Amino acid sequence: MKRTKREVMQKRKFGQTGEVVPVIGQGTYKFSTTKNELDAGIQALQRGIDLGMTHIDTAEMYRTEEVVGEAIKSVPREKLFIVSKVMPSNATYQGTIAACEKSLKNLGTDYLDCYLLHWRGSIPLSDTIKGLERLIDDGKIRSMGVSNFDVYDIEEALGIATHPIACNQILYNLFTRAPEHQLMPLCATKKIAVVAYTPFGKTRIPDVGTKSGDVLHALAEKHATTVRQIMLSFIVRDENVFTIPKASSEQHVSENAGAGKVILEEEDIKQLDQVFPMPKNSEPLEMN
Ligand SMILES: NC(=O)c1ccc[n+]([C@@H]2O[C@H](COP(=O)([O-])OP(=O)(O)OC[C@H]3O[C@@H](n4cnc5c(N)ncnc54)[C@H](OP(=O)(O)O)[C@@H]3O)[C@@H](O)[C@H]2O)c1
Repeated sequence: MKRTKREVMQKRKFGQTGEVVPVIGQGTYKFSTTKNELDAGIQALQRGIDLGMTHIDTAEMYRTEEVVGEAIKSVPREKLFIVSKVMPSNATYQGTIAACEKSLKNLGTDYLDCYLLHWRGSIPLSDTIKGLERLIDDGKIRSMGVSNFDVYDIEEALGIATHPIACNQILYNLFTRAPEHQLMPLCATKKIAVVAYTPFGKTRIPDVGTKSGDVLHALAEKHATTVRQIMLSFIVRDENVFTIPKASSEQHVSENAGAGKVILEEEDIKQLDQVFPMPKNSEPLEMN
């Protein structure tokens, strides 16, 4: 009989960093910072770490770096893969360095595993990349990456960078599959890990009684998992892709972590392809 589940969370190489990272990590955008909800959020993040979701994504824009810092303070640093991002408006050479130093302070750590440009703004990319490379040379970040970069942005960045670009964090999920045309194959060829954000999509998950809802539920039943676990495992079926769902309760975190054990078969993917088809042609990269 074919295995439909792994024993433990799947991990894979993260771009050219040399690090092996869990396929399911934890996002922290819109993490509530009100007192009551904050404690629950910290507990959820810690539960996620215990369950193997050691890739934690934050950004100066989210104002969640301190929460992450609180959640990780008793975890051995080498067990974690911490990512933060500089806002485009701060991404000059000096601004990138200053923003990173602030993020390190907020997080209570002396290095980031990866530091990203959050999206492209008006500051020349060469200035930002120079700042990121300086941070690598100074040991403040282990690798650098980008986010919301479309094909031409990646090509431009590759033409400038002297250090590898570790990842491109993009909007990618079952409902938004246009990046599969050109952007994701380009990233794979250049050994740039793809990190999928907003993995549950921007709209409601289809219910039973709809074509796509029926397929999701049937697959969840087949694998003895949940619909959300099927959605996450679909994203990470690709050897170069990771995802970072955000969840603020231990229950949601546990469910998401479980997706890292699901093994989808070719037949399952074919069924999902039919009800969540790729668009016919490539489209400009969407942002959330
Ligand atoms: N680079 C970028 O420009 C960019 C843009 C957007 C997001 N991101 C990153 O990607 C992360 C994820 O994206 P996202 O936050 O937009 O969307 P998401 O992870 O697709 O969805 C988050 C929502 O799903 C809910 N949820 C999570 N797990 C659940 C579960 N098992 N059962 C039921 N509900 C569940 C959460 O509720 P609860 O909170 O109540 O658990 C929250 O409302 C962000 O947090 C951020 O770190 C990056």
